[in-house]
Amino acid sequence: MIKKGIILAGGKGTRMSPLTKAVNKQLLPLYDKPLIFYPLSALMLAGIRDILIIVNKGQLNQFRKILPENNNLGIKIQYKEQQNPNGLPEAFIIGEKFIGKNSVALILGDNFFYGQSLTKILKKNINQKKGAKIFLHPVKNPSSYGVATINKKKQVLKLVEKPKKTKSNLAVTGLYFFDNNVVKLSKKLKPSSRGEIEIIDLLNIYKKKKLLKADFIGRGGSWLDTGNINDFNDASNFIYTIENRQGLKIACLEEISINNKWIGKKDIQRSIKFYGNCDYSRYLKKL
Ligand code: TTP
Repeated sequence: MIKKGIILAGGKGTRMSPLTKAVNKQLLPLYDKPLIFYPLSALMLAGIRDILIIVNKGQLNQFRKILPENNNLGIKIQYKEQQNPNGLPEAFIIGEKFIGKNSVALILGDNFFYGQSLTKILKKNINQKKGAKIFLHPVKNPSSYGVATINKKKQVLKLVEKPKKTKSNLAVTGLYFFDNNVVKLSKKLKPSSRGEIEIIDLLNIYKKKKLLKADFIGRGGSWLDTGNINDFNDASNFIYTIENRQGLKIACLEEISINNKWIGKKDIQRSIKFYGNCDYSRYLKKL
């Protein structure tokens, strides 16, 4: 069972400049919450409550203000800094001590997952012991993503980064489950031509050993990568529409925790005090 999760919340955020010149992308508002609440909520929905957040050098205190180690969410948060954005698999090198002898989930700090089928799929896969798992979602423009071809058993046959031409429309989302070998394997990776160690190289090692499987977020789920301004704005509008129609919040961390029976009334009261007089607090009061 995967009990540990890493959120990779550093990066350059070049595509989102000038918004990201002074503030880290993961702290920008996705409608009514900082972006990082959404990937964190996905890990919590999977039942993961031991979490390492990796942030850019010098940005620890900003993140701590909104997600302190000593929080009211019933989860354990630790932080580590990444000196430079050297690539996604560096998460497993920085997180070596945190991971210990365990398997681990990695979620990119700018990925937004939503939908009924999500919790079910996460819970189904969380018991994985060996190998790696990626989560796929169909997209209209596969050439902008990492794309996977799979067989009937959901074994990954082919992985291509931003293919010019492809028969598969299955994009690789920013959520990955790995067995403990990931630490050792990440250390062996060599930087690509763009000077970063690449997650696709890591996944290809698992694929070669026939240890890379996939699952689908499913039709009942949505996945949005919020890396550029338009996608970010689309995700924000999506959340606005759903929340205001249903009167239910997406990625309300306390709500997930209370449903998981990780926290009680007193924690909610402390959270209300922490956030102050705002819409989010009024929602917590109703819980
Ligand atoms: P990317 O989208 O690859 O990069 P970025 O967010 O820096 O954006 P841009 O391409 O506009 O410069 O990163 C995906 C996520 O992973 C994002 O949340 C940032 C994070 N990240 C790190 O924390 N460290 C890294 O070394 C890299 C490459 C990304």
